[in-house]
Amino acid sequence: MHITIVTSKKEYSLSAEKGASLLDLLRSNGIKVNSVCGGKGRCGKCAIRLLSGRLDITTADRAVFSEAELENGCRLACRAALYDDITIELINSGEEILADPDGMPVNNGIYADSDGMPEDNEKTAVPETVFGKAEYGIAIDIGTTTLALALVDINQGRVLCCRTSENPQRVYGTDVISRIDRAAKGSGSELKKLISSKLSTEIAALINDNKPEYGEIKRIAIAGNTAMLHILRGYDTSGLGSHPFTPVNINFEELQLAALLSEEKLPDDLKCVPVTILPGISAFVGADIVSGLFSLGFQKREKPCLFLDLGTNGEMAVGTRDRLLVTSVAAGPAFEGGNIKWGTGSIKGAISKVSIRDGKPGIKTVGGLLPPKGICGTGVIETTAELLGNKIIDETGLLSDLFFDSGYPLSKNASGETIVFTQDDIREVQLAKSAVRAGLEILLERYGAGYDEIDRLYISGGFGHTLDISKAAKIGMIPEELYGKCEAKGNTSLSGLISFLRDPKKGRTAFERIRKISKELYLSSDEKFNRLFLEYMSFE
Ligand code: FES
Repeated sequence: MHITIVTSKKEYSLSAEKGASLLDLLRSNGIKVNSVCGGKGRCGKCAIRLLSGRLDITTADRAVFSEAELENGCRLACRAALYDDITIELINSGEEILADPDGMPVNNGIYADSDGMPEDNEKTAVPETVFGKAEYGIAIDIGTTTLALALVDINQGRVLCCRTSENPQRVYGTDVISRIDRAAKGSGSELKKLISSKLSTEIAALINDNKPEYGEIKRIAIAGNTAMLHILRGYDTSGLGSHPFTPVNINFEELQLAALLSEEKLPDDLKCVPVTILPGISAFVGADIVSGLFSLGFQKREKPCLFLDLGTNGEMAVGTRDRLLVTSVAAGPAFEGGNIKWGTGSIKGAISKVSIRDGKPGIKTVGGLLPPKGICGTGVIETTAELLGNKIIDETGLLSDLFFDSGYPLSKNASGETIVFTQDDIREVQLAKSAVRAGLEILLERYGAGYDEIDRLYISGGFGHTLDISKAAKIGMIPEELYGKCEAKGNTSLSGLISFLRDPKKGRTAFERIRKISKELYLSSDEKFNRLFLEYMSFE
Protein backbone atom coordinates (compact mmCIF):
# COMPACT_ATOMS: atom_id res chain seq x y z
CA MET A 1 0.00 0.00 0.00
CA HIS A 2 1.10 3.53 -0.69
CA ILE A 3 0.85 6.14 1.98
CA THR A 4 1.36 9.78 1.07
CA ILE A 5 2.05 12.22 3.85
CA VAL A 6 1.63 15.92 3.36
CA THR A 7 3.28 18.34 5.77
CA SER A 8 3.76 22.07 5.64
CA LYS A 9 7.34 21.40 4.50
CA LYS A 10 7.05 18.62 1.93
CA GLU A 11 5.35 15.46 0.77
CA TYR A 12 6.55 11.95 1.64
CA SER A 13 5.71 8.69 -0.05
CA LEU A 14 5.92 5.51 2.02
CA SER A 15 4.90 1.90 1.52
CA ALA A 16 3.22 -0.13 4.22
CA GLU A 17 2.13 -3.68 4.94
CA LYS A 18 -1.59 -4.36 5.24
CA GLY A 19 -2.81 -3.89 8.79
CA ALA A 20 0.28 -1.88 9.87
CA SER A 21 -0.14 0.86 12.46
CA LEU A 22 0.02 4.34 10.97
CA LEU A 23 1.89 5.73 13.99
CA ASP A 24 4.51 2.95 13.80
CA LEU A 25 4.92 3.57 10.07
CA LEU A 26 5.50 7.30 10.64
CA ARG A 27 7.97 6.62 13.44
CA SER A 28 9.93 3.97 11.60
CA ASN A 29 10.39 6.44 8.76
CA GLY A 30 11.69 9.14 11.05
CA ILE A 31 8.52 11.24 10.98
CA LYS A 32 8.05 11.91 14.63
CA VAL A 33 4.54 12.62 15.71
CA ASN A 34 3.76 13.80 19.20
CA SER A 35 2.19 11.08 21.34
CA VAL A 36 1.82 12.31 24.88
CA CYS A 37 -0.12 9.22 26.05
CA GLY A 38 2.37 6.84 24.46
CA GLY A 39 -0.04 5.60 21.79
CA LYS A 40 -2.92 4.71 24.08
CA GLY A 41 -5.50 6.74 22.14
CA ARG A 42 -6.09 9.17 24.97
CA CYS A 43 -4.19 12.40 24.39
CA GLY A 44 -5.24 13.25 20.83
CA LYS A 45 -1.76 14.63 20.06
CA CYS A 46 -1.14 12.16 17.22
CA ALA A 47 -4.11 13.50 15.22
CA ILE A 48 -3.84 13.36 11.42
CA ARG A 49 -6.26 14.35 8.69
CA LEU A 50 -7.25 11.85 6.01
CA LEU A 51 -7.24 13.60 2.63
CA SER A 52 -8.04 10.59 0.45
CA GLY A 53 -8.56 6.83 0.83
CA ARG A 54 -10.13 4.96 3.73
CA LEU A 55 -9.25 4.88 7.45
CA ASP A 56 -11.94 3.37 9.67
CA ILE A 57 -13.25 5.47 12.54
CA THR A 58 -12.32 3.83 15.86
CA THR A 59 -13.89 4.18 19.31
CA ALA A 60 -10.89 6.23 20.40
CA ASP A 61 -11.43 8.55 17.40
CA ARG A 62 -15.03 9.07 18.51
CA ALA A 63 -13.92 9.90 22.06
CA VAL A 64 -11.45 12.54 20.87
CA PHE A 65 -13.03 14.14 17.78
CA SER A 66 -16.39 15.81 17.18
CA GLU A 67 -18.67 14.54 14.38
CA ALA A 68 -17.58 17.49 12.24
CA GLU A 69 -13.90 16.69 12.79
CA LEU A 70 -14.44 13.01 11.96
CA GLU A 71 -16.30 14.09 8.85
CA ASN A 72 -13.34 16.28 8.03
CA GLY A 73 -11.03 13.24 8.14
CA CYS A 74 -9.53 13.61 11.62
CA ARG A 75 -8.14 10.33 12.99
CA LEU A 76 -5.67 9.21 15.67
CA ALA A 77 -2.51 7.85 14.05
CA CYS A 78 -1.90 5.54 17.02
CA ARG A 79 -5.25 3.80 16.49
CA ALA A 80 -5.21 3.74 12.70
CA ALA A 81 -4.62 0.42 10.92
CA LEU A 82 -3.73 0.66 7.22
CA TYR A 83 -5.88 -1.26 4.72
CA ASP A 84 -5.99 1.15 1.79
CA ASP A 85 -3.79 3.57 -0.16
CA ILE A 86 -4.23 6.86 1.64
CA THR A 87 -3.06 10.44 1.67
CA ILE A 88 -2.88 12.13 5.03
CA GLU A 89 -1.91 15.47 6.45
CA LEU A 90 -0.07 15.78 9.77
CA ILE A 91 -2.16 18.14 11.87
CA ASN A 92 0.48 18.67 14.54
CA SER A 93 3.23 19.29 12.02
CA GLY A 94 6.01 21.87 12.41
CA GLU A 95 7.72 21.50 15.74
CA GLU A 96 6.18 18.05 16.13
CA ILE A 97 8.34 16.82 13.25
CA LEU A 98 11.72 16.50 14.82
CA ALA A 99 13.53 14.79 12.00
CA ASP A 100 12.64 14.29 8.38
CA PRO A 101 12.79 10.88 6.71
CA ASP A 102 16.16 11.66 5.16
CA GLY A 103 17.46 11.46 8.69
CA MET A 104 18.28 15.15 8.78
CA PRO A 105 17.52 16.49 12.19
CA VAL A 106 15.46 19.65 12.06
CA ASN A 107 16.62 22.25 14.52
CA ASN A 108 13.54 22.66 16.62
CA GLY A 109 15.02 25.57 18.52
CA ILE A 110 14.37 24.48 22.08
CA TYR A 111 15.81 26.92 24.52
CA ALA A 112 16.09 26.69 28.28
CA ASP A 113 17.70 28.86 30.89
CA SER A 114 20.91 27.65 32.43
CA ASP A 115 21.81 29.45 35.55
CA GLY A 116 24.78 31.71 35.10
CA MET A 117 25.67 30.26 31.74
CA PRO A 118 25.56 31.66 28.23
CA GLU A 119 22.26 31.52 26.38
CA ASP A 120 21.63 28.09 24.97
CA ASN A 121 22.99 27.36 21.53
CA GLU A 122 24.96 30.55 21.88
CA LYS A 123 28.72 30.50 21.95
CA THR A 124 31.50 32.53 23.33
CA ALA A 125 34.94 32.76 21.75
CA VAL A 126 37.09 29.65 22.11
CA PRO A 127 40.10 30.65 24.19
CA GLU A 128 43.59 30.46 22.79
CA THR A 129 45.83 29.58 25.67
CA VAL A 130 49.29 30.98 25.83
CA PHE A 131 50.71 28.21 27.97
CA GLY A 132 49.55 25.24 25.97
CA LYS A 133 46.52 23.38 24.82
CA ALA A 134 43.14 24.18 26.33
CA GLU A 135 41.30 21.14 27.63
CA TYR A 136 37.60 20.63 27.27
CA GLY A 137 34.86 18.57 28.77
CA ILE A 138 31.29 17.93 27.73
CA ALA A 139 28.44 17.90 30.25
CA ILE A 140 25.27 16.08 29.21
CA ASP A 141 21.99 16.18 31.09
CA ILE A 142 19.35 13.78 29.79
CA GLY A 143 15.94 15.06 30.84
CA THR A 144 12.69 13.30 30.08
CA THR A 145 11.71 16.32 27.99
CA THR A 146 14.90 18.22 27.22
CA LEU A 147 18.51 17.32 26.53
CA ALA A 148 21.14 19.85 27.56
CA LEU A 149 24.81 19.79 26.62
CA ALA A 150 27.59 22.17 27.57
CA LEU A 151 31.13 22.49 26.25
CA VAL A 152 33.38 23.47 29.12
CA ASP A 153 36.97 24.65 29.34
CA ILE A 154 37.85 22.40 32.27
CA ASN A 155 40.86 24.38 33.39
CA GLN A 156 39.31 27.81 33.40
CA GLY A 157 35.82 26.59 34.25
CA ARG A 158 34.35 28.56 31.37
CA VAL A 159 31.25 27.33 29.61
CA LEU A 160 31.86 27.94 25.93
CA CYS A 161 28.53 26.84 24.57
CA CYS A 162 25.28 25.19 25.59
CA ARG A 163 22.94 23.29 23.32
CA THR A 164 19.45 22.18 24.22
CA SER A 165 17.03 20.08 22.23
CA GLU A 166 13.98 17.96 22.74
CA ASN A 167 14.45 14.38 23.92
CA PRO A 168 13.46 12.39 20.82
CA GLN A 169 11.97 9.65 23.02
CA ARG A 170 9.09 12.04 23.70
CA VAL A 171 7.20 10.39 20.84
CA TYR A 172 6.91 7.36 23.14
CA GLY A 173 5.09 9.39 25.78
CA THR A 174 5.93 12.54 27.72
CA ASP A 175 6.25 11.06 31.18
CA VAL A 176 8.84 8.72 32.68
CA ILE A 177 6.31 5.98 33.39
CA SER A 178 5.33 5.68 29.70
CA ARG A 179 9.01 5.38 28.73
CA ILE A 180 9.72 2.77 31.42
CA ASP A 181 6.65 0.89 30.28
CA ARG A 182 7.50 1.03 26.57
CA ALA A 183 11.11 0.05 27.20
CA ALA A 184 10.06 -2.87 29.40
CA LYS A 185 7.59 -4.04 26.76
CA GLY A 186 10.07 -4.41 23.94
CA SER A 187 10.81 -0.89 22.67
CA GLY A 188 13.94 -0.51 24.81
CA SER A 189 16.38 -0.84 21.94
CA GLU A 190 14.39 1.63 19.82
CA LEU A 191 14.37 4.14 22.69
CA LYS A 192 18.10 3.60 23.24
CA LYS A 193 18.78 4.08 19.55
CA LEU A 194 16.84 7.35 19.52
CA ILE A 195 18.74 8.87 22.41
CA SER A 196 22.08 7.48 21.37
CA SER A 197 21.75 8.85 17.86
CA LYS A 198 20.51 12.23 19.06
CA LEU A 199 23.35 12.61 21.57
CA SER A 200 25.92 11.70 18.93
CA THR A 201 24.49 14.36 16.62
CA GLU A 202 24.39 16.95 19.39
CA ILE A 203 27.98 16.24 20.46
CA ALA A 204 29.19 16.49 16.86
CA ALA A 205 27.32 19.81 16.47
CA LEU A 206 28.74 21.14 19.73
CA ILE A 207 32.28 20.36 18.55
CA ASN A 208 31.68 21.67 15.03
CA ASP A 209 30.14 24.90 16.22
CA ASN A 210 33.10 25.56 18.47
CA LYS A 211 36.00 23.77 16.85
CA PRO A 212 38.25 23.48 19.91
CA GLU A 213 41.22 23.34 17.61
CA TYR A 214 43.66 24.44 20.29
CA GLY A 215 42.80 21.60 22.58
CA GLU A 216 41.00 18.33 23.00
CA ILE A 217 37.98 16.82 24.67
CA LYS A 218 39.38 15.22 27.80
CA ARG A 219 36.22 13.83 29.35
CA ILE A 220 32.46 13.68 29.26
CA ALA A 221 30.04 13.39 32.17
CA ILE A 222 26.38 12.38 31.94
CA ALA A 223 23.48 12.73 34.38
CA GLY A 224 19.78 12.13 34.07
CA ASN A 225 16.94 10.51 35.93
CA THR A 226 17.31 6.80 36.63
CA ALA A 227 14.94 5.75 33.84
CA MET A 228 16.72 7.88 31.20
CA LEU A 229 20.12 6.46 32.20
CA HIS A 230 18.78 2.89 32.23
CA ILE A 231 17.46 3.33 28.71
CA LEU A 232 20.74 4.88 27.58
CA ARG A 233 22.67 1.91 28.97
CA GLY A 234 20.23 -0.61 27.58
CA TYR A 235 19.34 -1.90 31.07
CA ASP A 236 16.09 -3.67 31.79
CA THR A 237 13.64 -1.02 33.03
CA SER A 238 11.02 -3.43 34.34
CA GLY A 239 12.35 -3.12 37.91
CA LEU A 240 11.75 0.64 37.82
CA GLY A 241 8.05 0.33 37.03
CA SER A 242 6.76 -1.76 39.91
CA HIS A 243 7.30 -2.50 43.57
CA PRO A 244 9.97 -2.81 45.05
CA PHE A 245 11.30 -0.41 42.36
CA THR A 246 14.75 -1.92 41.94
CA PRO A 247 17.19 -0.30 39.53
CA VAL A 248 19.75 -2.43 37.69
CA ASN A 249 22.63 -0.03 38.37
CA ILE A 250 22.76 3.47 39.87
CA ASN A 251 26.47 3.58 40.64
CA PHE A 252 29.26 5.51 38.95
CA GLU A 253 30.06 4.01 35.55
CA GLU A 254 33.12 4.63 33.43
CA LEU A 255 33.30 3.71 29.74
CA GLN A 256 34.44 5.04 26.39
CA LEU A 257 32.14 7.17 24.28
CA ALA A 258 32.04 4.71 21.36
CA ALA A 259 30.74 2.01 23.70
CA LEU A 260 27.79 4.21 24.58
CA LEU A 261 26.63 6.11 21.51
CA SER A 262 26.06 5.62 17.78
CA GLU A 263 29.60 5.25 16.54
CA GLU A 264 28.96 6.26 12.94
CA LYS A 265 27.89 9.76 13.90
CA LEU A 266 30.79 10.43 16.26
CA PRO A 267 33.90 12.28 15.14
CA ASP A 268 36.81 9.79 15.16
CA ASP A 269 38.88 11.61 17.76
CA LEU A 270 36.02 11.42 20.24
CA LYS A 271 35.44 7.68 20.18
CA CYS A 272 37.91 6.90 22.96
CA VAL A 273 37.04 9.84 25.20
CA PRO A 274 36.27 8.59 28.72
CA VAL A 275 32.69 9.04 29.87
CA THR A 276 31.48 9.04 33.46
CA ILE A 277 27.85 8.29 34.14
CA LEU A 278 26.99 9.87 37.44
CA PRO A 279 25.26 7.91 40.20
CA GLY A 280 21.72 8.23 41.53
CA ILE A 281 20.02 7.43 44.80
CA SER A 282 17.10 5.22 43.76
CA ALA A 283 14.64 4.37 41.00
CA PHE A 284 12.93 7.72 41.60
CA VAL A 285 15.76 9.99 42.66
CA GLY A 286 18.37 9.95 39.94
CA ALA A 287 21.81 11.29 39.11
CA ASP A 288 20.27 14.57 37.94
CA ILE A 289 19.08 15.26 41.48
CA VAL A 290 22.40 14.25 43.07
CA SER A 291 24.12 16.52 40.55
CA GLY A 292 21.72 19.36 41.43
CA LEU A 293 22.33 18.91 45.16
CA PHE A 294 26.07 18.86 44.50
CA SER A 295 25.91 22.07 42.45
CA LEU A 296 23.99 23.79 45.24
CA GLY A 297 26.57 22.65 47.81
CA PHE A 298 24.25 20.54 49.97
CA GLN A 299 27.26 18.42 50.93
CA LYS A 300 28.60 21.46 52.78
CA ARG A 301 25.42 23.09 54.12
CA GLU A 302 25.21 23.65 57.83
CA LYS A 303 21.66 25.01 57.90
CA PRO A 304 18.82 22.97 56.39
CA CYS A 305 17.92 23.91 52.83
CA LEU A 306 15.21 22.66 50.52
CA PHE A 307 15.64 21.67 46.89
CA LEU A 308 12.79 21.25 44.47
CA ASP A 309 13.32 20.06 40.92
CA LEU A 310 10.22 20.41 38.79
CA GLY A 311 10.13 18.25 35.73
CA THR A 312 7.80 15.49 34.69
CA ASN A 313 8.30 14.36 38.27
CA GLY A 314 8.74 16.62 41.25
CA GLU A 315 11.87 15.53 43.08
CA MET A 316 12.71 17.24 46.33
CA ALA A 317 15.22 17.10 49.14
CA VAL A 318 15.75 18.74 52.50
CA GLY A 319 18.73 18.71 54.80
CA THR A 320 22.29 19.59 55.58
CA ARG A 321 25.75 18.10 55.07
CA ASP A 322 24.92 15.54 57.76
CA ARG A 323 21.48 14.32 56.75
CA LEU A 324 19.31 14.56 53.65
CA LEU A 325 15.76 13.33 53.13
CA VAL A 326 14.76 12.97 49.49
CA THR A 327 11.53 12.09 47.75
CA SER A 328 9.73 12.23 44.46
CA VAL A 329 6.11 12.95 43.57
CA ALA A 330 4.31 12.25 40.31
CA ALA A 331 3.54 15.84 39.37
CA GLY A 332 2.61 15.06 35.78
CA PRO A 333 4.10 16.93 32.85
CA ALA A 334 2.05 20.16 33.17
CA PHE A 335 5.03 22.19 34.37
CA GLU A 336 6.85 21.22 31.19
CA GLY A 337 3.87 22.02 28.99
CA GLY A 338 2.75 18.37 28.77
CA ASN A 339 -0.94 17.36 28.84
CA ILE A 340 -1.84 21.00 28.23
CA LYS A 341 -3.99 21.66 25.14
CA TRP A 342 -1.61 24.27 23.73
CA GLY A 343 1.34 23.14 25.83
CA THR A 344 4.79 22.99 24.31
CA GLY A 345 8.41 22.60 25.36
CA SER A 346 10.36 25.74 26.04
CA ILE A 347 10.79 26.51 22.38
CA LYS A 348 11.23 29.97 20.91
CA GLY A 349 7.78 31.46 20.55
CA ALA A 350 6.32 29.63 23.58
CA ILE A 351 4.24 31.88 25.83
CA SER A 352 6.23 32.25 29.03
CA LYS A 353 4.88 35.45 30.64
CA VAL A 354 1.23 36.32 31.07
CA SER A 355 -0.49 39.28 32.65
CA ILE A 356 -4.20 39.98 32.58
CA ARG A 357 -5.34 43.61 32.93
CA ASP A 358 -9.00 44.63 32.72
CA GLY A 359 -9.79 41.12 31.55
CA LYS A 360 -7.37 41.36 28.60
CA PRO A 361 -4.30 39.14 28.37
CA GLY A 362 -0.79 40.40 27.66
CA ILE A 363 1.84 37.82 26.75
CA LYS A 364 5.58 37.47 26.27
CA THR A 365 7.25 34.58 24.52
CA VAL A 366 10.58 32.79 24.81
CA GLY A 367 12.98 34.66 22.55
CA GLY A 368 10.35 37.36 21.92
CA LEU A 369 9.13 35.45 18.87
CA LEU A 370 5.60 36.33 17.74
CA PRO A 371 3.02 35.10 16.92
CA PRO A 372 3.22 32.57 19.74
CA LYS A 373 3.33 28.82 19.13
CA GLY A 374 2.01 27.47 22.42
CA ILE A 375 2.47 27.70 26.18
CA CYS A 376 5.55 26.42 28.03
CA GLY A 377 5.67 25.38 31.70
CA THR A 378 6.34 28.88 33.03
CA GLY A 379 3.47 30.20 30.93
CA VAL A 380 1.22 27.51 32.38
CA ILE A 381 1.99 28.64 35.94
CA GLU A 382 1.68 32.33 35.02
CA THR A 383 -1.62 31.88 33.22
CA THR A 384 -3.12 30.00 36.16
CA ALA A 385 -1.93 32.64 38.64
CA GLU A 386 -3.30 35.49 36.52
CA LEU A 387 -6.66 33.79 35.96
CA LEU A 388 -6.89 33.26 39.69
CA GLY A 389 -5.85 36.83 40.53
CA ASN A 390 -8.46 38.20 38.12
CA LYS A 391 -11.12 35.86 39.48
CA ILE A 392 -11.58 34.22 36.09
CA ILE A 393 -11.18 30.93 37.89
CA ASP A 394 -12.52 30.40 41.39
CA GLU A 395 -10.75 28.78 44.32
CA THR A 396 -11.96 25.33 43.22
CA GLY A 397 -10.31 25.87 39.84
CA LEU A 398 -13.55 26.37 37.93
CA LEU A 399 -13.35 28.68 34.89
CA SER A 400 -16.04 31.37 34.72
CA ASP A 401 -19.08 30.56 32.56
CA LEU A 402 -17.85 32.77 29.73
CA PHE A 403 -14.74 30.64 29.18
CA PHE A 404 -15.84 27.28 30.58
CA ASP A 405 -16.44 25.62 27.21
CA SER A 406 -14.06 27.51 24.97
CA GLY A 407 -11.14 28.10 27.33
CA TYR A 408 -9.53 31.46 28.12
CA PRO A 409 -8.05 32.99 24.92
CA LEU A 410 -4.42 34.12 25.26
CA SER A 411 -3.43 34.95 21.70
CA LYS A 412 -3.54 33.73 18.11
CA ASN A 413 -0.87 31.59 16.47
CA ALA A 414 0.56 31.98 12.96
CA SER A 415 -2.34 30.05 11.44
CA GLY A 416 -4.87 32.33 13.11
CA GLU A 417 -5.93 29.67 15.62
CA THR A 418 -6.66 30.89 19.14
CA ILE A 419 -4.31 29.63 21.82
CA VAL A 420 -6.57 28.99 24.80
CA PHE A 421 -6.10 27.80 28.36
CA THR A 422 -8.82 25.29 29.09
CA GLN A 423 -10.64 23.86 32.07
CA ASP A 424 -8.76 20.57 31.57
CA ASP A 425 -5.46 22.48 31.60
CA ILE A 426 -6.36 24.02 34.95
CA ARG A 427 -7.13 20.55 36.33
CA GLU A 428 -3.66 19.37 35.19
CA VAL A 429 -2.06 22.31 37.01
CA GLN A 430 -4.08 21.54 40.13
CA LEU A 431 -2.88 17.92 40.11
CA ALA A 432 0.73 18.96 39.62
CA LYS A 433 0.83 21.75 42.16
CA SER A 434 -1.00 19.78 44.86
CA ALA A 435 1.40 16.84 44.44
CA VAL A 436 4.38 19.18 44.84
CA ARG A 437 2.90 21.08 47.77
CA ALA A 438 1.80 17.95 49.63
CA GLY A 439 5.25 16.44 49.00
CA LEU A 440 7.01 19.50 50.41
CA GLU A 441 4.84 19.53 53.53
CA ILE A 442 5.36 15.84 54.30
CA LEU A 443 9.07 16.02 53.54
CA LEU A 444 9.52 18.87 56.02
CA GLU A 445 7.40 17.15 58.65
CA ARG A 446 9.29 13.84 58.39
CA TYR A 447 12.63 15.63 58.37
CA GLY A 448 11.52 17.43 61.50
CA ALA A 449 11.96 21.06 60.44
CA GLY A 450 9.55 23.98 60.40
CA TYR A 451 9.44 26.66 57.70
CA ASP A 452 11.38 29.04 59.96
CA GLU A 453 14.30 26.61 60.18
CA ILE A 454 14.74 26.43 56.42
CA ASP A 455 17.55 28.63 55.18
CA ARG A 456 16.85 28.58 51.42
CA LEU A 457 14.49 26.90 48.97
CA TYR A 458 16.06 26.30 45.56
CA ILE A 459 13.77 25.57 42.65
CA SER A 460 15.21 24.15 39.46
CA GLY A 461 13.68 22.64 36.37
CA GLY A 462 13.06 22.93 32.69
CA PHE A 463 10.29 25.50 32.73
CA GLY A 464 11.88 27.09 29.76
CA HIS A 465 12.13 30.47 31.27
CA THR A 466 12.81 32.09 34.60
CA LEU A 467 10.06 31.12 36.97
CA ASP A 468 8.32 34.02 38.71
CA ILE A 469 8.27 32.61 42.24
CA SER A 470 5.43 34.92 43.29
CA LYS A 471 3.22 33.23 40.69
CA ALA A 472 4.21 29.77 41.95
CA ALA A 473 3.29 30.94 45.46
CA LYS A 474 0.04 32.46 44.19
CA ILE A 475 -1.19 29.09 42.90
CA GLY A 476 -0.23 27.49 46.21
CA MET A 477 2.62 25.35 44.95
CA ILE A 478 4.98 26.86 47.52
CA PRO A 479 4.01 27.78 51.08
CA GLU A 480 3.84 31.54 51.56
CA GLU A 481 6.20 31.27 54.54
CA LEU A 482 8.98 30.08 52.21
CA TYR A 483 8.35 32.58 49.46
CA GLY A 484 10.99 35.04 50.67
CA LYS A 485 13.58 32.25 50.86
CA CYS A 486 13.08 30.98 47.31
CA GLU A 487 15.65 31.13 44.59
CA ALA A 488 14.80 29.99 41.06
CA LYS A 489 17.67 28.09 39.49
CA GLY A 490 18.04 26.84 35.96
CA ASN A 491 19.30 23.39 35.10
CA THR A 492 21.16 22.48 38.32
CA SER A 493 21.95 19.01 37.00
CA LEU A 494 23.98 20.58 34.18
CA SER A 495 25.68 22.96 36.63
CA GLY A 496 26.69 19.97 38.79
CA LEU A 497 28.06 18.13 35.76
CA ILE A 498 30.15 21.16 34.81
CA SER A 499 31.68 21.33 38.30
CA PHE A 500 32.30 17.58 38.18
CA LEU A 501 34.17 17.90 34.88
CA ARG A 502 36.51 20.46 36.40
CA ASP A 503 37.59 18.20 39.23
CA PRO A 504 36.25 14.64 38.93
CA LYS A 505 38.13 13.41 42.00
CA LYS A 506 36.59 16.01 44.27
CA GLY A 507 33.27 15.54 42.51
CA ARG A 508 33.29 11.81 43.17
CA THR A 509 33.85 12.34 46.88
CA ALA A 510 31.01 14.88 47.05
CA PHE A 511 28.62 12.66 45.06
CA GLU A 512 29.36 9.69 47.29
CA ARG A 513 28.86 11.85 50.37
CA ILE A 514 25.45 13.03 49.14
CA ARG A 515 24.38 9.44 48.40
CA LYS A 516 25.59 8.25 51.79
CA ILE A 517 23.69 10.85 53.82
CA SER A 518 20.50 10.57 51.74
CA LYS A 519 17.49 8.64 52.89
CA GLU A 520 14.50 8.21 50.64
CA LEU A 521 10.92 8.81 51.66
CA TYR A 522 8.22 6.90 49.72
CA LEU A 523 5.02 8.85 49.42
CA SER A 524 2.75 6.99 47.02
CA SER A 525 1.09 4.92 49.74
CA ASP A 526 1.48 7.51 52.49
CA GLU A 527 -1.97 8.21 53.92
CA LYS A 528 -1.19 11.74 55.03
CA PHE A 529 0.37 12.60 51.68
CA ASN A 530 -2.76 11.40 49.89
CA ARG A 531 -4.99 13.44 52.21
CA LEU A 532 -2.91 16.59 51.76
CA PHE A 533 -2.81 16.00 48.00
CA LEU A 534 -6.61 16.25 47.89
CA GLU A 535 -6.59 19.27 50.21
CA TYR A 536 -4.13 21.24 48.09
CA MET A 537 -6.07 20.66 44.89
CA SER A 538 -8.01 23.79 45.70
CA PHE A 539 -6.53 27.29 45.26
CA GLU A 540 -7.83 28.50 48.65
S1 FES B 1 -3.94 9.62 21.20
FE1 FES B 1 -2.52 8.82 19.86
S2 FES B 1 -0.70 9.03 20.90
FE2 FES B 1 -2.11 9.79 22.29
